[in-house]
Amino acid sequence: MQKDKFWEYFDDESKEYVQTIMDAEGDYYDKAEKFITPLIKSNGKVLDIGNGGILNYDYSNLEELVCADISISKKIEEVYKDVPNISFIESNIMDMNNVDDERFDVVIVQKVIHHLAENNYSTTKNNCIKAMNECIRVLKPGGILIICESTVKRWFERLEIAFFKPMMACCDLVKFDRVYQYSPESLKKLLETELDDCTNLERVEDIGLGNHVLFLGRKCPSWLLPCSVTFYLVRKGVRDNE
Ligand SMILES: C[S@@+](CC[C@H](N)C(=O)[O-])C[C@H]1O[C@@H](n2cnc3c(N)ncnc32)[C@H](O)[C@@H]1O
Repeated sequence: MQKDKFWEYFDDESKEYVQTIMDAEGDYYDKAEKFITPLIKSNGKVLDIGNGGILNYDYSNLEELVCADISISKKIEEVYKDVPNISFIESNIMDMNNVDDERFDVVIVQKVIHHLAENNYSTTKNNCIKAMNECIRVLKPGGILIICESTVKRWFERLEIAFFKPMMACCDLVKFDRVYQYSPESLKKLLETELDDCTNLERVEDIGLGNHVLFLGRKCPSWLLPCSVTFYLVRKGVRDNE
C-alpha cells in the first residue's frame, strides 16, 4: 500500500470528488441510504472508514460520527466544521493504529475494498482480510459492520484473476488507482470464512446501481458495465466470558 499514491490520487480529486460522484451516482447513494440509515442507532458511535467526504445517511442523532480516510480533504473538513458530532481523522483501514479496540457501535465501509489491490491476488485478498478484521477489532461486542461494496459478475472476476498483472498494468497506464473488484459470492465467502471468530454475516443483498456509474472519471450508463453494489451486514458477537 503506497500512501503517497493514494494521497496524490484522492487528495487531488477529493476537492471535486463529492460533487462529481453525486452528479453521476446520486441516485445510487439514495438507494444505499435506505440500507444504512435504519441500522444506525441514535446516540451511537459510528466510524465511516474510507469516507471520502460522502455522508449519504442520517447522522443527526448520532453521539459521534468519525469520518476516517487515508487522505482527508481540507475542503471537506471545512464543510462540516460546525457540525458538533462529526470529526475527521486520517487512518488506514488495514492498520487503524489510532483507533482504540471496541470503540464503535457501527463501522461503515462504502466502496473501499476494491482499492486494496496490490501486485498479486493473494496479497490483495490478504489486504481485504486485514482490513475487515481491523473493522471488527474497533467494534464493540454486538456492534455491526456495514459494507456497501462495488462488485462484479463472477465471469468478470475470473478474468480479473486470470489477467491480474495486465489489469493492474492497465490501471497504472491510465493513471487510475489499482482496483480489484470481488464478485458478491467471493466477498461473501471471505466474510464468512476469513474473519476472526465471533462474527456472523447476517445479510447479503444487492443494492444495484443508479442510472450511471463514474468509470475512469467519465459518466457511463450502468447497463454497459458488469457491476453492481452489494450490501453486507456483519455482526460482532459477544464472547461467552463477557
Ligand atoms: C471510491 S472512494 C469511496 C468514498 C465513499 N466511501 C463513497 O462511498 O463514495 C474510496 C475511498 O477510500 C479511501 N481509501 C482508499 N484506500 C484506503 C485505505 N487503505 N484506508 C482508508 N481509506 C482508504 C480513499 O481515499 C477514498 O476516499
